Amino acid sequence: MSLDAVLAYLQAHRQEHVAQLCELLRIPSISSQSDHAGDIRAAAVFCARELRDLGLEAEIVEGNGHPLVFARTAAVAGRPTLLFYGHYDVQPVDPLDQWQTPPFEPRLEGGVLYARGSTDDKGQFYAHFKALEAYVRTGTELPVNLKFILEGEEECGGRHVYDYTEANADKLACDAVIISDTALYNETTPGICYSLKGLAYMEIRVSGPSRDLHSGSYGGTVQNPANALAQIIAGLRDAQGRCTVPGFYDQVLDLDAGERSAFASLGYTDALLCEETGAPAASGEAGYTTLERMWARPTCDVNGITSGYGGQGAKTIIPAHAMAKVSMRLVPNQDPPAIAAAFAEHVRRLAPPGVKVEVENLHNANPVLVPRDSPMMQAGIRALRAGFGAEPVFIREGGSIPIVGTFQSCLKAPVLLLGYGLSTDNAHSPNEKFHLDNFWNGARTTALLLREAAAR
Ligand code: BES
Ligand code: ZN
Repeated sequence: MSLDAVLAYLQAHRQEHVAQLCELLRIPSISSQSDHAGDIRAAAVFCARELRDLGLEAEIVEGNGHPLVFARTAAVAGRPTLLFYGHYDVQPVDPLDQWQTPPFEPRLEGGVLYARGSTDDKGQFYAHFKALEAYVRTGTELPVNLKFILEGEEECGGRHVYDYTEANADKLACDAVIISDTALYNETTPGICYSLKGLAYMEIRVSGPSRDLHSGSYGGTVQNPANALAQIIAGLRDAQGRCTVPGFYDQVLDLDAGERSAFASLGYTDALLCEETGAPAASGEAGYTTLERMWARPTCDVNGITSGYGGQGAKTIIPAHAMAKVSMRLVPNQDPPAIAAAFAEHVRRLAPPGVKVEVENLHNANPVLVPRDSPMMQAGIRALRAGFGAEPVFIREGGSIPIVGTFQSCLKAPVLLLGYGLSTDNAHSPNEKFHLDNFWNGARTTALLLREAAAR
């Protein structure tokens, strides 16, 4: 059987594949909430069963954290091996009242599928399953050996997949790692991603008096933790929008002239940004375009902040505590642990006297940069071009996929970031969605990639 038969199979089974994806999307596999542990397992079982049905040897790997799914085709000598990675866990759904329909009851409207996890990442890795299915069900010989590793802790910072990768580098050995957990450039232009940002995610806890105090009786006599935290946060960035952590920019790999002009030629505008985000204006580090800041400049942002009274009306207190979560999105070649340590020291320096300040490094991810001229990259470009019927462009992403750095260092294999989502798919937000055309074209692209990867 030929590749034509594979593509015809995908075409003929489009509706059925959407219905199957909906089954996976109905499982509320939220990794950060322990009451969903059963759902996490159900999602892993769903994936393992499907891969087993396609003739792969598939196992659910127990360990420290949520289960992994590892599967492989029977190896044929002389064929290159591709390792597909994806994550079956999803983000929490709050604020629930902002969803038009419940997050785990998939809704189809105008060629778009709405559900938590639809683009991030169930719909994307499921396109890989369907490509494989098309080969198997049409009896078409696979041009490559395939391995799959799926994890359930990508969104919550679990260690299981790292530990497993480090301990099982031989088992995961491959000629390339393929990941679909990023985005196309836009609705009409596929993108091939060559850089992800890294992350240092910090929590700042400020405490003062042993309890909330009457702000009339004690205001002006002791340091207010909320005021102190505001002062710390205000000190984290200067008027140019640059992060003030000492040494923050020292290791930053600057964009080269070619990248800057390639970004500029994509024609992304601030008007488009405002339309996509609903923000009234673009804002950020001076001296860089919006796309440069989005894709290649490190950032420092408050992700959450709480203190004192937030209920109806007035309550006059000096709060006992204040807390903020701050993320630093890092770029090649910044070192997350080093940046985290410099941040903690900086915060302690910024704190006014009279409060106790604790800084915790919650979560790190390494930034990623892959070469744009590798044979695997060229194979990916050819597959995208044919799969989506449009010329792909090189993109970078502001998001992180923490395991990628470990794949690079442990498996010593090139990583291909082949995204089928859209930045506007509301990942991590209410009304997350996935466009069916991207699901179907993604499955086509994956099917074509197997051939292209073998031909390179
Ligand atoms: N799919 C995203 C990564 C991503 C985000 C790619 C935006 C392209 C654009 C992934 O599931 C994710 O959300 N990663 C987290 C990792 C974090 C928890 C360490 C992220 O980037 O916030
Ligand atoms: Zn995500």
